[in-house]
Amino acid sequence: MLAIDARDVTKTFRSGWLRRRETHALRGVSLAVPRGAIWGLLGPNGAGKTTLLSILATLLTPDGGSVTVLGHDVLREAAALRHRLNMASGRPSFLWSLRVDEIIAFYGRLYGLHGAALRRRVDELVELCELVPFRRVQYSELSTGLKQRVALAKSLVNDPELLFLDEPTLGLDPDVSVRVRQHIARLRREQGITIVLTTHYMREAEELCDEIAFIKAGRIPARGTPGELKRQIRLGEVIALKLDPAAVEWLAEAPGVLRCAEAGGWVECTVDEAEKRLPELLRALHADGVVVKNVQVREPDLEEVFVELAK
Ligand SMILES: Nc1ncnc2c1ncn2[C@@H]1O[C@H](COP(=O)(O)OP(=O)(O)O)[C@@H](O)[C@H]1O
Ligand SMILES: [Mg+2]
Repeated sequence: MLAIDARDVTKTFRSGWLRRRETHALRGVSLAVPRGAIWGLLGPNGAGKTTLLSILATLLTPDGGSVTVLGHDVLREAAALRHRLNMASGRPSFLWSLRVDEIIAFYGRLYGLHGAALRRRVDELVELCELVPFRRVQYSELSTGLKQRVALAKSLVNDPELLFLDEPTLGLDPDVSVRVRQHIARLRREQGITIVLTTHYMREAEELCDEIAFIKAGRIPARGTPGELKRQIRLGEVIALKLDPAAVEWLAEAPGVLRCAEAGGWVECTVDEAEKRLPELLRALHADGVVVKNVQVREPDLEEVFVELAK
């Protein structure tokens, strides 16, 4: 069953003098997210990620298309829907003077919790998001990573079936990002929450998501599992060579070589078909008197797919 079924969603922002400046943030986006998935929306800045997430979370209305979330139409049944989903931003902003547990309690009250039930929920979330030592700390005193954990705790206050995370690891140190990602994976595993996240980090999408949609300039030019995407783009395989002399000019023009680049003492040739091109290249290098000191063949990683698509 689908958690989200969106078809041909469009959104244009009007701004500036007489609202004459138009930004086509979404130009016809369709997506289907199965329940229980971790589903990633990946794209460069300004691609339309936050706009799409906000529409799916009933915070913005689309100009065109249809959006059904958890079986509800987002336009006609937004109120019913809001009890079943929630959203956290990687750029959270809460009142600076509130303490961590006060922030969570504030949002709990918005969902009708009070008294002992509210206190219990706050305790649970403080525990779950590893905020116990910080529960009486003022928001303004927290590090970026802790602020994001507060945002995550806040977004779980109504026990959502569907959670939207907008760039959940934005600006975090790598080691903190790893923890946040583990946390996201655990939410799905242990609580069965469907998670839709946006990111512009390829590795994050590859590591966490069952399926990824690339979004660029308000359109989705490619989508699939990480493996499918690599095949879809047909980026070719990479033959990495350690050579003596280190650089060989004609390599970039050799048959079947799509691209040639140097990285850390290796010459990396992206080729159409490694099995066929590797022996050819080795023969040609040998004939040219170049010594091949080391060879590795590998699949392209998604980072390369991303660079290709973001062009
Ligand atoms: N409220 C708004 N008014 C005018 N333009 C907007 C507004 N929100 C977003 N945009 C524009 O819409 C495009 C998509 O923005 P956004 O969805 O925030 O992208 P992303 O989250 O992928 O960085 C951008 O060009 C952005 O400047
Ligand atoms: Mg954004």
